[in-house]
Amino acid sequence: MEICAVVMAAGEGTRMKSKHSKVVQMVSGKPIIRWVADALAEAECEEQVYIVGEKQEEIRRILGESVAYVFQEQRLGTGHAVMQAAPFLEGRSGYTIVLPGDSPMITAATINSSLKMIEENDYAAVIITATAEDATGYGRIVRDANGNVVKIVEHRDASEEELKIKEINSSMYIFKTALLLSALGRLGSQNAQKEYYLTDTIGILISDGHSVGANIVNFDDTRGVNDRYQLMQASKILNKRILHYHMANGVQILDEESTWISEGVEIGRDTLILPGCTITGETKIGEDCIIGENTRVDSALVGNSTEIDNSIVTECVIGDECRIGPFTHVRPQSVIRDHVTLGAYVEVKNSTIDEYTRARHLTYIGDSQVGKNVNFGCGTVTCNYDGQEEKNGCIIEDNVFIGGNSNILSSVVLGKDSYIAAGSTITSDVPPLSLGIGRARQTNKEEWVSTRNRLRGAKFIELDRKRYEV
Ligand code: UD1
Ligand code: CA
Repeated sequence: MEICAVVMAAGEGTRMKSKHSKVVQMVSGKPIIRWVADALAEAECEEQVYIVGEKQEEIRRILGESVAYVFQEQRLGTGHAVMQAAPFLEGRSGYTIVLPGDSPMITAATINSSLKMIEENDYAAVIITATAEDATGYGRIVRDANGNVVKIVEHRDASEEELKIKEINSSMYIFKTALLLSALGRLGSQNAQKEYYLTDTIGILISDGHSVGANIVNFDDTRGVNDRYQLMQASKILNKRILHYHMANGVQILDEESTWISEGVEIGRDTLILPGCTITGETKIGEDCIIGENTRVDSALVGNSTEIDNSIVTECVIGDECRIGPFTHVRPQSVIRDHVTLGAYVEVKNSTIDEYTRARHLTYIGDSQVGKNVNFGCGTVTCNYDGQEEKNGCIIEDNVFIGGNSNILSSVVLGKDSYIAAGSTITSDVPPLSLGIGRARQTNKEEWVSTRNRLRGAKFIELDRKRYEV
């Protein structure tokens, strides 16, 4: 069976108040129009034509050349939009799916059940409809006494009686292609908006003696996105769908209100996602991990049994059984191997950190290669920036112990099994098995306090107390 689709996306989307086309706005990690295209592809409709307007470049960039485009020069209504696709549809048998480009909640299941309905009943068309609590602005489905669809009437053209109808037109349809073309050719624009209404094709087909079905689906699946508020609503609905998908696959999510996971993220079973997490991009998280609370993971590969607490990890690889956080920043191009611990206020950028290495507090590791079982003392800094343009980290070999508050200058090599004394600034290589010390030697001046009369006794405690009281 030949199935093609026409997607109406020439609208300006003025209510979005954006520089960009409405249909390229992101919802749950994907542009709106991509959701529509993906639902069509999932329903095995590969022949897709998009009716585009002024901002067509943005749409073309997202959908590429695997679909067709028709430019609608003047926007004379939804019927006029679909007419632009006539050259594409002529001579085809089978069915044409018509969708608005701004409805990201459409699912392949809805498309497939509508296709089944049109085939089984030999309808001329199937309208995808829903029951709306507030039907204001929508076209209404008018049925006869037997419940058969008679026509669609637009809100602005509806009578008092018709305005009471709660069944709305979602602007999603399936037509027999030849009958769609025949009805489009007879559309007029004698209505409140002086537009060519696609909705009028239904009345035309029925007066030709055909019958039309209505596939009533959940209202949420038909929602269109016209403004920022509806964009948020769409994001919430799609996000919940994604969360339910992960839960069905064995991921434990503690709070569906505060957890945001984009389409395409993979998470292994028995992983626990705590409140406040945002997981986006091409992220893959293994099994038995604990992510969160309040953690952002973007395009990261995370192994099994790793914990990431109150942290940000982006475009990096993290192995199995790592402990990341709280308050850790793992930046792009970092590779963190298994059993690594990165703790509070530790930042890693473009570095490889091998197994069992620990940087538990206040450390910066940039552009560096770090071996296995290295201990970073609190406050260690790899000084990777020369103040001009070069960024070079250092090489820290296996089993190195770095004492607290040390600076390791760029390009320095700390040899295997070496020690760095606390408070050192290391400017040249430290050979294996050696101790590197790079700090001023301490001197003690005896009796300095009494000879300078600097004794801090009870009177100072009293002074201090007074100072803090004011
Ligand atoms: C349309 C339906 C209405 C339905 C509602 C659901 C018509 C006449 N009415 O009304 O019954 O309840 O959708 O949301 O069809 N577009 C073009 N070119 C045009 C005009 C529109 O590409 O010349 C595109 C728009 O970008 C949009 C879609 O078609 O994606 C729907 O058009 P819109 O003007 O929003 O129709 P509604 O008045 O909402
Ligand atoms: Ca609309």
